[in-house]
Amino acid sequence: MAPEIIADPARLRRRLAEMRKPGETIGLAPTMGALHAGHAKLLETARRENPLVVASIFVNPLQFDRKDDLDAYPRRMREDLQMCAEQGVSVVFAPGSADLYPEEQLTFIESPALSRYLCGEFRPGHFRGVATVVLKLFNIVQPDFAYFGEKDAQQLAIIRRMVKDLNVPVSVVPVATVREPDGLALSSRNKRLTPAERAIAPVLSRALRESLRQIDEGERSVARVREEATRLLARHPEVRVEYFSVTDPETLSPVQQIEGPVLIAGAIWLGSVRLIDNVAWPKKGAREI
Ligand code: PAJ
Repeated sequence: MAPEIIADPARLRRRLAEMRKPGETIGLAPTMGALHAGHAKLLETARRENPLVVASIFVNPLQFDRKDDLDAYPRRMREDLQMCAEQGVSVVFAPGSADLYPEEQLTFIESPALSRYLCGEFRPGHFRGVATVVLKLFNIVQPDFAYFGEKDAQQLAIIRRMVKDLNVPVSVVPVATVREPDGLALSSRNKRLTPAERAIAPVLSRALRESLRQIDEGERSVARVREEATRLLARHPEVRVEYFSVTDPETLSPVQQIEGPVLIAGAIWLGSVRLIDNVAWPKKGAREI
């Protein structure tokens, strides 16, 4: 069945109150559209676990640190609605900027201790924009469960911590990264790669896999793990490495010596496209690369 498409927050609240039968849970998958198989996995997981599924589609200006990136962000509502229908989404919440930000936003969610590392170091204000819009979506939809991809590990860590620190009554459910057969993590930005760049792009997931292999074989020095990953990435002069870090999975602070679970995360540029990816060590059940 085709999902209902709603732009107005108040109307969404009213419709969900009508649609929801007593005791039924609501699952929310927040997205920025241009949906691909990674998003589909979020929706599929939400559908399996909740009778009512809301997908939000909103390209959130607050989280874009560069105007060119916001302008170039793909918008494909027709195809997105098709995918939502296929995945059994009940309601697509697709507000315009004026629906979510009718006035100048004067209140923000900040997590400076988690935002200073990894992507946050290079994208000032990005996670403040993400956390703020996600809390707004939580308040509008009031879901029982909210689904986020492990692909964006820092985003997931920040939202989990926000929910804990602010007693938000939502359970955050992580969903494993969906990849192309050659290892490249699916991303809406992949479509902007030239064929030559697309051929090089899987090198980031190869470097991460190599780091996992080294640690599995007993390497405990982060310097040596990074050295090998950097060597692999440097084989392609087209790749500009923004960061390749081994961090604590919760605090996201860098570690020097591997003594417990770690998150290994990297960001590279290929031409004008920025790609991110990460893996957890030790591998968790759900996680694959
Ligand atoms: P977007 O990039 O559209 O991603 C929406 C959700 O899909 C995020 O939880 C993201 O981690 C997940 N996702 C993206 N690619 C994935 C992949 N290859 N495998 C598994 N999950 C994947 O992330 C955002 O939008 C925004 O920041 C948002 C949370 C919607 C706030 O505006």
